[in-house]
Amino acid sequence: ERISRRHIKCRGDIDMLKVPLLAIYESLIPPKEEKEKQMQLLTSLEKLVVNEWPCARLCLFGSCANSFGVSNSDLDVCLVHRDADIDKAEILLKLADRLQSANFQNVQALTHARVPIIKLKDPVTGISCDICINNVLAVVNTKLLRDYAQIDVRLPQLAFIVKHWAKSRGVNETYQGTLSSYAYVLMCIHFLQHRDPPILPCLQETKIVTYHEIVDNIECAYFDQVENLKSFGSNNNESVARLVWGFFHYWAYCHDYANTVISIRTKSTISKRAKDWTRRIGKDRHLICIEDPFETSHDLGRVVDKYSIKVLREEFERAAIILQTYPNPCEKLFEPF
Ligand code: GTP
Ligand code: MG
Repeated sequence: ERISRRHIKCRGDIDMLKVPLLAIYESLIPPKEEKEKQMQLLTSLEKLVVNEWPCARLCLFGSCANSFGVSNSDLDVCLVHRDADIDKAEILLKLADRLQSANFQNVQALTHARVPIIKLKDPVTGISCDICINNVLAVVNTKLLRDYAQIDVRLPQLAFIVKHWAKSRGVNETYQGTLSSYAYVLMCIHFLQHRDPPILPCLQETKIVTYHEIVDNIECAYFDQVENLKSFGSNNNESVARLVWGFFHYWAYCHDYANTVISIRTKSTISKRAKDWTRRIGKDRHLICIEDPFETSHDLGRVVDKYSIKVLREEFERAAIILQTYPNPCEKLFEPF
């Protein structure tokens, strides 16, 4: 059945979904005042941090800085300390104490998490925030995503819609074995790199490197002068409606889950065998493989287990069928699960 559906042609009237899908996209974009509030919170946090650790700075990462943030997202903040050998737990506990004294609410230091963080809520702006330490790779991949988003507006359009779908359908919960927002954005970039003609280039495969950093012994290098690439996708005139349909169709019927890894770093897909991601290692099962663009040994699909892979694939299929057959698919597509 899967194979036979691979070649289903997109419905003839798909472009009529462009208006309602774009309306959903527009409604998810955070208003200007929200950005101002985020900056206000960042400034007050930075004052407090620099006062205690003059060598430290704060950087935003995640959806508040990668241009894939919908309205009312949490703020992801990274404390960058010049000294790489600092005791993160000690700093987090001390910072949590200072934050509490400064009247921030719900301050919690999660020092034993995979990525140790402080969680807090700012009573002034109402924004919730996570602070981690020296997670510079996340700051760099945030920039990569932001740079991709500048090239073609169909990327933020597609990714906002996919993220909204994933949150509505309950498949954006890493602790329940489904995928992170970061993973979904990588899936969208990969999909647009592989349209014919392509809508996005591969920034890490261009001959010219204009951005270069070594972070945690990982070389992060790519072409970041994206203002020169604004017309890259202009030979492809697919509408966002066709792309949303194509995205779900790909993940429902066309992706080779058994053998391939998607990689926005390279122009092609990689075989699971080449990465030795063919079997379960520890907790990592590699049932859907999404390579991190810099930390290439990191599979963003590692959280997916034998139950949640089924849930995910059924959800991709549900979305593909709704988009293909419903006269009025938008409401159904985002129906809470
Ligand atoms: P929302 O908060 O859902 O709007 O999206 P987000 O873009 O902030 O994504 P998320 O909370 O999933 O991740 C925050 C950032 O952490 C990402 O943008 C990446 O820069 C970084 N990151 C790096 N590796 C991982 C990983 O394995 N999982 C997740 N979730 N994030 C990672
Ligand atoms: Mg976030």
